[in-house]
Amino acid sequence: METKIRNRVSQLFFFAALLLLNFSCTTSTEETKVQQILESMSLKQKAELVVGTGMYFPMPDSIRAMLPPAFGGESTGDTLYDQMVDRVRSYLPGAAGNSAEFPELGITSQVLADGPAGLRISPTREGDPNTYYCTAFPIGTLLASSWDTELIEQVGQAMGEEVLEYGADVILGPALNIQRDPLCGRNFEYYSEDPLVTGKMAAAMVKGIQSNGVGTSIKHFAANNQETNRLTVNTIVSERALRELYLKGFEIAVKEGKPWTVMSSYNKINGTYASESYDLLTKVLRDDWGFDGYVMTDWTGGSDRVAQMKAGNDMIQPGSYEYITTLIDAVENGTLDESVLDTNVKRILTVMMRTPRYKHLEISGKPELKAHARVTYKAATDGMVLLENRDQTLPFSGNIKKVAAFGNTSYEFISGGTGSGDVNEAYTISLIQGLETAGYEFNATLKELYETYIRNARAAHQGPQNMLASIMGGMVPVEEMPLDPAVAKEMAEAMDIALITIGRNAGEGYDREAAEGDFYLTGTEKNLIRDVSQAFHDAGKKAVVILNVAGVVETASWSQIPDAVLCVWQPGQEAGNSVMDVVSGKVNPSGKLAVSFPVLYDDTPTAKNFPGHAVEGAVDDTPDGSGFSFMQRTPWEVVYEEDIFVGYRYYNTFDVPVAYEFGYGKSYTTFQYGNLSLDSEKFEDQVTATIDVTNTGTVAGREVVQVYASAPEGRLEKPDEVLVAFGKTGLLEPGQSETLTFTIDASVLSSFDEENSSWLAEAGTYTLKFGASSRDIREEANFTMEKDITAGTVSRALVPQQEIATLHK
Ligand code: BGC
Repeated sequence: METKIRNRVSQLFFFAALLLLNFSCTTSTEETKVQQILESMSLKQKAELVVGTGMYFPMPDSIRAMLPPAFGGESTGDTLYDQMVDRVRSYLPGAAGNSAEFPELGITSQVLADGPAGLRISPTREGDPNTYYCTAFPIGTLLASSWDTELIEQVGQAMGEEVLEYGADVILGPALNIQRDPLCGRNFEYYSEDPLVTGKMAAAMVKGIQSNGVGTSIKHFAANNQETNRLTVNTIVSERALRELYLKGFEIAVKEGKPWTVMSSYNKINGTYASESYDLLTKVLRDDWGFDGYVMTDWTGGSDRVAQMKAGNDMIQPGSYEYITTLIDAVENGTLDESVLDTNVKRILTVMMRTPRYKHLEISGKPELKAHARVTYKAATDGMVLLENRDQTLPFSGNIKKVAAFGNTSYEFISGGTGSGDVNEAYTISLIQGLETAGYEFNATLKELYETYIRNARAAHQGPQNMLASIMGGMVPVEEMPLDPAVAKEMAEAMDIALITIGRNAGEGYDREAAEGDFYLTGTEKNLIRDVSQAFHDAGKKAVVILNVAGVVETASWSQIPDAVLCVWQPGQEAGNSVMDVVSGKVNPSGKLAVSFPVLYDDTPTAKNFPGHAVEGAVDDTPDGSGFSFMQRTPWEVVYEEDIFVGYRYYNTFDVPVAYEFGYGKSYTTFQYGNLSLDSEKFEDQVTATIDVTNTGTVAGREVVQVYASAPEGRLEKPDEVLVAFGKTGLLEPGQSETLTFTIDASVLSSFDEENSSWLAEAGTYTLKFGASSRDIREEANFTMEKDITAGTVSRALVPQQEIATLHK
């Protein structure tokens, strides 16, 4: 027996050695090849490779005139270059960008196409009868609400197959900025207010997508938490808040997911454009975290091309011919060392060698859209959050056959947000279609009423004011149709239950507003909820609100009126079907909020510093004098005065009431937590905790268990508790239990110590809290740490140039 084991061990060693050998061979062959290509390149070719080939998509001349030249597509006068650009642009119509190709050197173009909710390409092509639709998967916020990294990886696998089969090399996603404030217009693309959830979701997504042999570009690196004046905003933020919140998710994604590329963000951080920041792109990203891919700018980001190269921003997207000249001149006049450019080029070539185009992989142009529709259908149900459910209103009982659907969004469900994160999907299943497929009857008169309203409202509005939304797909009009209470009464008599959908969209380029019709419900919407609920209650029936939203909305003032509230976010193209599975009870909701719902917008810790202000003395040259411009460069700054107290870190530490706390979500069943045990009460390198979760209700369900740590008081100020781990059970039948295991190491317990540029876990007693939410702690256990532990020292980087007044406990 012993010999057998020994043989087995030596066999394993042998294979491991072979693997290592193989790995180092490939690596060194790759390096040699890259070096050979580099040596065969002229300076002009190097400059052409680091500058993208421009961006082109059909649009009216009036709109193009408002955009920078990079979007123009006009001739450069360099015929060979223009021919190359025309060629690479034809590879995948609708892709956001390309890198240059040099077939004579074996350098292939890399096709870069948006994300993050699915691949974004043109669904149709001139003179081509085929269609090229992609799957619209649920938005990032919904995926994070599933707290299920395996599920996210599956979504990634499906998404990546479309990237591969349609012929893209890198998808521009996932997007993982922290949801610092509920009004950021792109929160829907992002995961959470918490960096651990953010990082884990992003890492899983990267792994899933890249398992297809295509790349990702995690974005927008970093501290890009608003859309207002996004091209110029200077984010003023402490090193500690950066490390603990705004960089943390990226750190996890880089270390665990190993993305091929990173997209630097538009904004400045403490005075320097992210794309020009050596601190960010070299010291933090590469030296501290070991990133080995290339960095590209966000589209037209930054201003100094030479500084970008020096910082480690290897590729400028979408690029413009003049930048090529700028870089050549810089090398020739000695302001840019050619070795810097060589490093940038090498990184691009190294990633290129992994791409499908370089490997000449055959592409089908026909991804598994049917199978992916099933993936998105299922994923959406797992991230829906049941906010209220009085008297078991949901799931529908067997007596419910006829459903009255109110609210115009019931008829035009919103699958995802607008802008570059919008997917060109073949269809979106509306709530009404979902109802029908699930075998329920809807009311034709009500349908006609809403559809007519939507048609007229669309015609009356000059089009949405969000310019990108008008280029990239319209918005559903906000509910403005007052519903005649007589109609509500009539429906309450004729139908068995009411579903009232409240819809909100948001998108790139604009932030949302703390106004009625956006964060707050309009009077019309509130009346609708009140009147319909009243009418149905009078008839002894129930009313349910469905929130089809891009982000957080105000709920506290109305959530007790209907019988149930289900937040379905923007659930992707199978929307109506996914919602009906949860409403009908086919799926028991297991989503929990990865973002807090404040009572009022003004309760948020960021409210007084969002979206910032014009830089003192700056000239306001915006067209309408509003200080806001989508693509113009208005000097602007925002101070992150709340520091590390973002989201629940603030609400829970400062005892601020919320409508729904971070981690909150109901189920159709109940769970009991028990048998908590720690392997040691003394912390050495780590502590392992196990806890049993039992389904104590009557239907099968899944539970998300969250582990928060409260650190002892010490030199560094800390939030009352911080999420350090989470897990989700499998589907537990009534009475069934599962044991979840969590390993907690010093890295998640530590705070960033600016004085020493290190991660510090201070000595003392720690409490681990096991919760069904951040405010519903079911079990607790303590352990002690005898001495301070330093969990890593990093570069001194991104230091603010000014004192920042920050919030204190
Ligand atoms: C967005 C990026 C996007 C890029 C390409 C930019 O405006 O900020 O997220 O990937 O455009 O479309």
